[in-house]
Amino acid sequence: MLSYFWILLLFGLNSSPTTAAPIVLPCWDCTPRKVPVCPPPDPKVNYRPIIGILSHPGDGASGRLNNATNASYIAASYVKFVESGGARVIPLIYNEPPEILHKKLKMVNGVVLPGGSTKRGVHFEVVESIFKSVVLKNDGGDHFPLLAICLGFELLAMIVAKDRSILEEFNAKDDPSPLHFMRNSNIQGTVFERFPPLLLKKLAVDCLVMEHHRHGISPERFRKNKNLKSFFKILTTSTCKDNKKNAFEWGSPKIPHSEDAVQVTQNVANFLVREARKSANRPSVGDVLDNLIYKYKPTYCGKAGRGFDQVYIFS
Ligand SMILES: *[C@@H]1O[C@H](CO)[C@@H](O)[C@H](O)[C@H]1NC(C)=O
Ligand SMILES: *[C@@H]1O[C@H](CO)[C@@H](O)[C@H](O)[C@H]1NC(C)=O
Repeated sequence: MLSYFWILLLFGLNSSPTTAAPIVLPCWDCTPRKVPVCPPPDPKVNYRPIIGILSHPGDGASGRLNNATNASYIAASYVKFVESGGARVIPLIYNEPPEILHKKLKMVNGVVLPGGSTKRGVHFEVVESIFKSVVLKNDGGDHFPLLAICLGFELLAMIVAKDRSILEEFNAKDDPSPLHFMRNSNIQGTVFERFPPLLLKKLAVDCLVMEHHRHGISPERFRKNKNLKSFFKILTTSTCKDNKKNAFEWGSPKIPHSEDAVQVTQNVANFLVREARKSANRPSVGDVLDNLIYKYKPTYCGKAGRGFDQVYIFS
């Protein structure tokens, strides 16, 4: 019944006078008739990629949900973000024994370093060891993406720069903003490569990307550090790229939820998982099933929490 309604509605829309060129469905049995052939799966592609997400100290709600001193959390929005791109998640619990964490790292095809606030201690050291191991994997010929969002990106900047005080103070709390693309950047092979061109234009002028952080790095400071300059390529600036998971967070009324903003999130997730599908790592099915995020229950914290709607807490 519903689809019938849509067909009627589409006819209705089509019959209205319009100047736009008609969009016609492809027709495979128009002449000459050809039987469509579905290609076999490509053995080089990993159609079942797994992404590791690193947990952050605390319960994500300043103790309102869990006061255990060894508690750590992953905001469920990161899990949904990864799943929306077509991958499954294994949590990398930062304070687990290192040998367990690194065993899990061998089961994944990419890693997300989420946002947060902790810039020292065990968490920092774990980020550093994950980063080193990701570089080794890539240098060793695997294709292994690392997506660092907000704090994750700040930590990477500190680690790559070999300077723990490289970050500068910025005031970007809780505001969406456009991205400023660098002039004449070649976006081939980058996260923006398969963004619809219209969406890229909107990214540069509309407030589609949520910013919520106090630290960042200016292009001037970035260029002065030869380690950063030789490792990263600046594509865009704002104060840093954040909240690529806005589609799944509702805590602040300022988080963009327009169709365009949601499409930005989806395109970033598609990119991460597209890269992870190139990873040659094929962990055993049993290991994966034993460690997936599905073993854990997320906690709803829309009211008790501070910003997140749902978190996975490990304690
Ligand atoms: C954690 O400790 C604080 C301070 O004592 C308390 O207000 C809060 O209710 C505790 N949280 C839980 C989940 O028990
Ligand atoms: C946290 O501590 C509890 C109790 O001491 C222990 O059972 C649990 O395994 C610890 N969790 C982590 C992630 O270290």
